Amino acid sequence: MTISVESFRFVQELVRSESAIVLDTGKEYLVESRLAPLARSAGTPDVDAYVADVSRRRTPTAMRAVVEALTTNETSWFRDSEPFVTLRTVVLPTLAAARAGGPIRVWCAACSSGQEPYSVAMTALDTPQLGGRTIEVVGTDLSEEMLARARSGVYSQLEINRGLPATTLVKYFERAGTGWRVRPEVSASVTFRTANLIRPFPPMGRFDIVFLRNVLIYFDTATKADILRRVRQVLAPDGVLFLGAAEMVTGLDDGWERLPGGRSSIYRRTSAPGR
Ligand SMILES: C[S@@+](CC[C@H](N)C(=O)[O-])C[C@H]1O[C@@H](n2cnc3c(N)ncnc32)[C@H](O)[C@@H]1O
Repeated sequence: MTISVESFRFVQELVRSESAIVLDTGKEYLVESRLAPLARSAGTPDVDAYVADVSRRRTPTAMRAVVEALTTNETSWFRDSEPFVTLRTVVLPTLAAARAGGPIRVWCAACSSGQEPYSVAMTALDTPQLGGRTIEVVGTDLSEEMLARARSGVYSQLEINRGLPATTLVKYFERAGTGWRVRPEVSASVTFRTANLIRPFPPMGRFDIVFLRNVLIYFDTATKADILRRVRQVLAPDGVLFLGAAEMVTGLDDGWERLPGGRSSIYRRTSAPGR
């Protein structure tokens, strides 16, 4: 079977209004394959019947399940590697020199299952210029399911294989059944909380570094521009923004300048935060 036009439209609208994720025509197959397991576990005969049921009941739980199912949670350890080299060799040493002993605060603004914030924490532990100084990493995401996995700090061998160097595994992980758990010295500096980027950010204080990687790609231009403008408001004047390798601020928000950093897509604020 294929999903009906009405069901697809309902899901398209719901996902757009709740997460800003754009599901263009042509994504019917994606919607159907992501919702099929939910339809099965709800005991409904097919995806259309499941969507009709969600549409009739409109409970927050049912609607959240649909939105979460349509998020793409693809991530890996030290993703794209170069940004983490820039973080260790340039960004953290520079901020450490500029901050007289105070903590360095990092926000991973769409952290999925936690590999990114833990990669940041491990990078900080491997930055000698920090000299044992406190680093606080806050990981946020829309998906409660991903946040629960992130908080557990436990990863399967398959997940570990995605980008984690063997030396880092030995240094910063311990066995947990057939998988691996992030060691307390790493997880101690990382906290997780829910945040939907299209809503006002929860009060989290000011950050020195923001990772906003591989999430803007799902949004339309106005949403990207709005999020970038609000990120400027929570970033320290000398703070640094990391975007995904294929992402940039050009044509979206002109309050940023790109910093040298090879293929890392990193930026600093140029103007006072806009309103
Ligand atoms: C592809 S992952 C990126 C993970 C990580 N930043 C990385 O680069 O590996 C995108 C994440 O964005 C989250 N997301 C999508 N829409 C969101 C929204 N409106 N607010 C917060 N998070 C959102 C998804 O749940 C997903 O975990």
